[in-house]
Amino acid sequence: MSLLAVRGLSGGHGPLTIFRDADIDLSAGQVLGLLGPNGAGKTTLMKTLVGLLPAHGGTIMLDGRDLTSLKAVTRTRAGLALVPEGRQIITTLTVAENLNLPRAAGRLDEAGYGARRAELLALFPRLGERLAQKGGALSGGEQQMLAIARALLCNPTVLLLDEPTQGLAPIMVRQVRDALASLAGRLPMLIVEQNRGFLDGIADRIVSMKAGRLV
Ligand SMILES: Nc1ncnc2c1ncn2[C@@H]1O[C@H](COP(=O)(O)OP(=O)(O)O)[C@@H](O)[C@H]1O
Ligand SMILES: [Mg+2]
Repeated sequence: MSLLAVRGLSGGHGPLTIFRDADIDLSAGQVLGLLGPNGAGKTTLMKTLVGLLPAHGGTIMLDGRDLTSLKAVTRTRAGLALVPEGRQIITTLTVAENLNLPRAAGRLDEAGYGARRAELLALFPRLGERLAQKGGALSGGEQQMLAIARALLCNPTVLLLDEPTQGLAPIMVRQVRDALASLAGRLPMLIVEQNRGFLDGIADRIVSMKAGRLV
């Protein structure tokens, strides 16, 4: 059975529908890659999945629960987390403060949160060295690690990532790739990427989006 089951989803901005008839199935332990050119509607789809934009039609089920009309915060509490395009960390808060934000999702108790935070600082040692620095002082790659760590501290059932390597130096691309490879098999992920090579060895399946349609 699919953990994430999306049927006939359409969505867009205001009255303008950008993508239509999206069907997505993600099972436990699976990684799905989503490729597509700029403007295809990938980010609009991801925002609609997590409730930052309303669906224009269709359904989004997570682990048998219908999320389609729930608020974004409720979807996070239900187990759907997004690493957004452009990272969107809070630049005026420190790294430690950014990592505190997911406590509000309430999906880990204090002991579980502490243990997960320690695991993530081992996975991304640079974050541990920069806990007291403001998010805005981090490099793009460090901000991406922070965005991924923040999403994982929500203890998601399914993790969505929107172009996690956008604008990163090659060495940082490799670190992000290694981190995602270490999660693959344990955490179901939907990864939007421009670069097919990045998904090799991580994604079990790849779909493409063209002009608002999955193909
Ligand atoms: N806030 C917005 N308001 C209106 N149209 C938007 C907005 N954001 C994106 N779009 C349009 O939606 C289409 C798909 O964009 P997007 O989902 O960002 O594509 P992708 O992530 O595949 O590059 C584009 O034509 C874009 O201009
Ligand atoms: Mg995009």
